[in-house]
Amino acid sequence: MRILSGIQPSGTLHIGNYLGAIKQWIELQQEHECLFLIVDLHAITEPYEPKEMQQRTKNIALDYLALGLDPKRCTLFVQSHIPEHTELMWLLTTVAQIGELERMTQYKDKAQQFAKQGVNAGLLLYPVLMAADILLYKTEGVPVGEDQVQHLELTRTIAKRFNSRFGNLFPEPKAILAQQGARIMSLKEPTKKMSKSHVEDSYIALSDVPDLIRKKIKRAVTDSGTEIVYDPNGKPALSNLLTIFSAFSGKDAKELVREYRSRGYDIFKKELGEVVARELSLFQQKRKRLENTPEYIDAVLETGRNAARNIAQKTLHEVKEKMGLI
Ligand code: TYM
Repeated sequence: MRILSGIQPSGTLHIGNYLGAIKQWIELQQEHECLFLIVDLHAITEPYEPKEMQQRTKNIALDYLALGLDPKRCTLFVQSHIPEHTELMWLLTTVAQIGELERMTQYKDKAQQFAKQGVNAGLLLYPVLMAADILLYKTEGVPVGEDQVQHLELTRTIAKRFNSRFGNLFPEPKAILAQQGARIMSLKEPTKKMSKSHVEDSYIALSDVPDLIRKKIKRAVTDSGTEIVYDPNGKPALSNLLTIFSAFSGKDAKELVREYRSRGYDIFKKELGEVVARELSLFQQKRKRLENTPEYIDAVLETGRNAARNIAQKTLHEVKEKMGLI
């Protein structure tokens, strides 16, 4: 299977990004042809500092490598290095419909958020660029968190519509969701997804030092009662912590419930804090070592650019032929 996924360089990554997306990528690269990109063109749809963008992109590349993506097993590259993404996007804007784009939950949220200063057209067209990222490589599987499933469905609609209008070209890509962690919730408001745009205590950044991780987990909200049970509807806070524990420890939630049921929230949170702190501090040590090898990071992204561009140029040529442009 050909697999592709990406992350925006819009600040520090959190454990939701890791458990929902990257952890799956690390497993998938063992057996599949994988492409992972840094989607800088998506990130510029929101206010940002141009001087910081290069560093943000490098930071995500460092995160990818330190978390365990292996450039010998996958292609790592930057979206804006491959001009075919934006060219295919334009072609696909003629296949997507405005009504479909306006119905996207992420668009509706962002349109509300930026209503005062004006909503840029990039926010509306965002899913078409994402469809271009995916279809340019004839991707079959897209490992993402649950919040991206709607964009994936739109990508399938675009692929199907293109195939029926211009002739068969694109596979219909499927979302691949993590069994544990497809939707990690905020530590402060467990009915909302974990996000770096909420208060700092509500998410655990991959760069948080062990003491801060322990503190954030200690301060995480819990539900009423004292027993450790898994019940996402009745006890969303506790269930979220169990999901995080399960994803980091490899034990399933049922096993954890058996182990901690009547030991109280304090011990449960303390041990969860240790598990998360241990894994993230290993990652942080590895990342520190990689920070000293900027030439290596550049070389990885350059090799990735060349490999990705070969595929991208070929697909774009086929698309243009089908659309009667060549
Ligand atoms: P982005 O950068 O917002 O998020 C990156 C990935 O992290 C997942 N994620 C979560 N998973 C579980 N729980 C959470 N709380 C959580 N928060 C974020 C996201 O689902 C995502 O997988 N549009 C995409 C980037 C993109 C892309 C693509 C993805 C652009 N082109 C092509 C796949 C294929 C985005 O904004 O992700």
